[in-house]
Amino acid sequence: MRPPFKMTRRNILMAGGATLGLAAIGGYILYPGQGMAATDLAHIKPLAIPPQDTGNLVDNVRVFDLELQKGTSTFFDGLETDTMGINGAYLGPVLRLRKGEETRLNVTNSLGEASTLHWHGFNLPARMDGGPHQQIEDGEVWSPQFEITDKAATMWFHSHVFHGTANQVWAGIAGMAIIDDAESVALDLPRDYGVDDIPVVLQDRSFQTSGQMPYDPGIGGRMMGMIGNFPLVNGVISPYLDVRTSQVRLRLLNGSNGSIYQLEFSDGRAFSQIASDGGLLGTPAEMNRLQLGPGERAELVVDVSGGKNFRLINNPSAAPRGHMFGGGVPEFSFLEIRPSNRLTAAKPLPAKLTDMPVPDESNVARTRKFVLQMGMMGGENSINDLPMALDVINEVVKKGETEIWEVSSNGMVAHPFHVHNTQYRVLSRNGRAPSPSEAGLKDTVVVNPNEVVRILVRFDTYTDAERPYMYHCHILEHEDGGMMGQFTVV
Ligand code: C2O
Ligand code: CU
Ligand code: CU
Repeated sequence: MRPPFKMTRRNILMAGGATLGLAAIGGYILYPGQGMAATDLAHIKPLAIPPQDTGNLVDNVRVFDLELQKGTSTFFDGLETDTMGINGAYLGPVLRLRKGEETRLNVTNSLGEASTLHWHGFNLPARMDGGPHQQIEDGEVWSPQFEITDKAATMWFHSHVFHGTANQVWAGIAGMAIIDDAESVALDLPRDYGVDDIPVVLQDRSFQTSGQMPYDPGIGGRMMGMIGNFPLVNGVISPYLDVRTSQVRLRLLNGSNGSIYQLEFSDGRAFSQIASDGGLLGTPAEMNRLQLGPGERAELVVDVSGGKNFRLINNPSAAPRGHMFGGGVPEFSFLEIRPSNRLTAAKPLPAKLTDMPVPDESNVARTRKFVLQMGMMGGENSINDLPMALDVINEVVKKGETEIWEVSSNGMVAHPFHVHNTQYRVLSRNGRAPSPSEAGLKDTVVVNPNEVVRILVRFDTYTDAERPYMYHCHILEHEDGGMMGQFTVV
């Protein structure tokens, strides 16, 4: 998958600041990492830490004002890129939410085109979900309000406009949300935002020599997901992070359109995963490699001691067998971690993080099967033979009933399967128990080719016979292409 191009010294030197020396093929700028090992790439810019937005407490409601807007971003010095963002030019602030708080989000759409804002991972009424049915016309304000009922977790929010999600997320309509609760703040975990508790939004983008990053998937992108050749963290290409504490907590969000990342550190060091999509794992899970699909989150705690810089990389060769071409994602050096000479010693991780009961399959009301289907040559996708249609309710689920959803696919591409309005449990992959990484709360799970993934779902809080929630593949090109369905909870 490496491009047929030879790295020259000049390309390397110019990669950091100036743009004119960057190599380009077909009008697109080449990533300096292409054709050379990720460990040879200089990390020039510091990681940007998005501002935290804690909202304002008004009559016991925590109120946020968010504006979807167009902007101009500088990914390469001297080159301007048209982007979209939320209260900024690209991506959004990190929303800081608290379990139990009534929360209102005033979303003003100033994009010049219709949009939506979906609260990914949250338990909430269907009309507040921000899916394709809650379209915000240009110039309009949409003000969903709901109680934060989920446990402490790293969630996110993004555009979910019908047939235009991939395009708007690519442009930058996405952001991270962090929920705190009494349990999470009582634990001895790194929690100093931007110091030892770091939001890490992983994406990839491709840039033209003009600096623009047009959304242009083509057949390849519609089939594999639109995958860029530059890794971005919080909107910065391959940044570095100075760390002054012996441990750092990385709140990873795969905010890419179509890339399943195989994450590891360049020196192979082990790390502890402490949370999955829906919050804390029962106990820290030690590992040295983590697969993260679009939409998935993982919180890691990394011991940075050892006196050397190291990098968070995507290693496509680590993709499970059956992922076409390692999923088509290049080798990326996302983030260089630079420990200072003197590190403040951190407390050891708690042995127990939260109660995570064994999933209870004893009271399953029914099993539903979902087959994720790719269209031929980038044509219309479907689930169970039906492409997404706004006026079709595909499934009706009873509130409070436990169900098993059996998810599989019809082809050679892996699909991250996401369900709105719930945190579910992974029961098995082809009959095997999930890894410790997936043994907690999940809302998105990668379904590999030739795999049946069984999940235990339940909707306990809200009903609405009219308005549906979505389930879909979180490869946004697959979703926009029809790999999505609708369900109501009654
Ligand atoms: Cu993150 Cu239906 O989406
Ligand atoms: Cu969602
Ligand atoms: Cu898919």
